[in-house]
Amino acid sequence: MKRYHVTTFGCQMNEHDSERMKGMLESLGYEQTAEQADADVILFNTCSIRETADSRFVAHLGHAKRVKREKPSTIIGVGGCWAQSLKDEVFTQFPFVDVAFGPGQVHKLTEFLTSDSLTAQGYFEFEGFAGDLPDKRTREHQGWVQISVGCNCNCSYCIVPQTRGREASRPFAGVVAECERLAGEGVREVTLLGQNVNAYGRDLRPDRATFAQLLHAVDAVEGIERIRYTSPHPKDMKEDVILAHAELASVCEHIHLPLQSGSSRILKAMRRTYDQVRYLDRVALIREHVPDCALTTDIIVGFPGETEEDFQMTLDVCEEVGYDSAFTFVFSPRRGTEAALITEGIVPHEVKVERMQRLVEVVQRRAHERAQRFVGRSVEVLVEGTSRTDPSRLRGRTRHNKTVNFAGCGVPGELVMVDVERATSQTLAGAESLLARAGR
Ligand code: SAH
Ligand code: SF4
Ligand code: F3S
Repeated sequence: MKRYHVTTFGCQMNEHDSERMKGMLESLGYEQTAEQADADVILFNTCSIRETADSRFVAHLGHAKRVKREKPSTIIGVGGCWAQSLKDEVFTQFPFVDVAFGPGQVHKLTEFLTSDSLTAQGYFEFEGFAGDLPDKRTREHQGWVQISVGCNCNCSYCIVPQTRGREASRPFAGVVAECERLAGEGVREVTLLGQNVNAYGRDLRPDRATFAQLLHAVDAVEGIERIRYTSPHPKDMKEDVILAHAELASVCEHIHLPLQSGSSRILKAMRRTYDQVRYLDRVALIREHVPDCALTTDIIVGFPGETEEDFQMTLDVCEEVGYDSAFTFVFSPRRGTEAALITEGIVPHEVKVERMQRLVEVVQRRAHERAQRFVGRSVEVLVEGTSRTDPSRLRGRTRHNKTVNFAGCGVPGELVMVDVERATSQTLAGAESLLARAGR
């Protein structure tokens, strides 16, 4: 039996694409191995969002090169956003790579592996939604469902529109059918994936659809108890989607609403097309309809031209909103993006580092404070497995997307009620409430 090894970098899109690569390889009769050295096919699914993502991957590629030197029949494949951003340059820079493909061409892997000529080949077209592919889920009871590919936004710092192409929605019926199939396989929680999920459906012809309609349809799927999605864009966050959180039983009380910066001036330079007022207005609308909703975000520090005053506005928004958690990034110039060409107002490295420290302090303090609202409450938890730090305890996730470590006897895939005893900024701790089982 032939074996494969896949290493994944980057976002949930890539994690899901990797599951599809694995699904395809298994349908060709390959089996997964934990060691690169034992694999006949070594694949990397790459990310290019920040410079650190690139350099981390290149070190991994060096290891695969050594494996191939020992066993020249090994096939090395590089997929994902980094491959797309370099295209055929991949083969000149790294001649030991056999196949390279962009995020829109995952399905070509089968064609390559079953073709006679295993000479270096690259696949970099964008063809809209690439159709249904088999997947091999990492988690039995949780599934990703891709609802669109690409991105039509123009954020000046971002490489994704180049690496994933124009936005194309997946047909409505196809999304619902996949959710039904997943439910039939025991999946209880789905995460709908797109670069800007609230733009979903505008391009569908003849029947346009909205993201809120899609939430309603997925909510109606028997067996799907929880719906999550990532990411919405604040400019397109409309009341119908917020109301879906309030009205639909399976839509979770968590919204990831990327802020990027609290300064309207910087948001404009980033081409985010909303300002601080509009963003805070979205937050207010969410809090009005779903008062307990968890809010998380993405923030970039050190965008060119960011002054201490601009940065202070980001801190102010974090104080005001009180995020349940935030991903914080130092600005990284990416090839081919507008922001990479800016030469004025470059923020010195030590200033970026110092701002990042201050930002993390505010984010963590507020997240810690916000998390205390769960202490003393009984919350519904989807059991995922055993605790990473203490195998005698269980680990799961709340509807608010908090990880919980708890004493109990639930099995993976089960919904249980947990009495929360303690909360840090990151995790909750407690014990299964034996009186009230969540038996939904
Ligand atoms: N489409 C999603 C996610 C995009 S990538 C969205 O718009 O929310 C995830 C995050 O990476 C972004 O939200 C942004 O905060 C960060 N990011 C993107 N490009 C970056 C860059 N050049 N430097 C630093 N962070 C970046
Ligand atoms: Fe990048 Fe902006 Fe699109 Fe997100 S919305 S993927 S940040 S261009
Ligand atoms: Fe995701 Fe990285 Fe591409 S964040 S969209 S894998 S550049």
